[in-house]
Amino acid sequence: MNKAQDFARARLSEKRYGHTLRVADTAEHLAAIHDLDTDKVRLAALLHDAARGTEPEELLRLAGTWELPADEFERENPKLLHGPVAAEMARRELGIEDEEVLDAIRFHTTGEPGMGPLALALYVADKIEPARDYPSVDRLRRLASESLEEAAAEALRTAVAYNEQRGRRTHPASLKTLAWLEESSERRME
Ligand SMILES: [Fe+2]
Ligand SMILES: [Fe+2]
Repeated sequence: MNKAQDFARARLSEKRYGHTLRVADTAEHLAAIHDLDTDKVRLAALLHDAARGTEPEELLRLAGTWELPADEFERENPKLLHGPVAAEMARRELGIEDEEVLDAIRFHTTGEPGMGPLALALYVADKIEPARDYPSVDRLRRLASESLEEAAAEALRTAVAYNEQRGRRTHPASLKTLAWLEESSERRME
């Protein structure tokens, strides 16, 4: 855990490192509420943005070297690769093999249909850490203590609406994740 924290500190600006620590505390809190492994989610949170300061060209280069899937969307928006690249750094440089932890890091930017509870906790924590300030954040914070699935769906809907307002496309994985969450929510209501 200390190694992960040092790893993040060495790679991030003061500001992003502060965000990382707040996400770690928030994710740990969510894990405790929802009966998840608090250590695992903290570890994933400490590492989630480890590649956030990496230049776009370098993200593309690393993704190529490590044979990480990068579609046309990611080649146009290399920043989206900071999740998959950070997961691979965690595996290669810190020897982390736990797939739940790696998936949580990998999928924190776009989401992924079928993502597990740990990944959902990190996804949501990233959106609601205490310094986040946007109109729907308090609603999202309340929702997060009730259901990680509902909170993640709401966060994705907000992201889609935000992109639409700005004439930007949303990553296909995010749209598929939202559809998956909405389907499972309907199943729960039945
Ligand atoms: Fe991130
Ligand atoms: Fe983040």
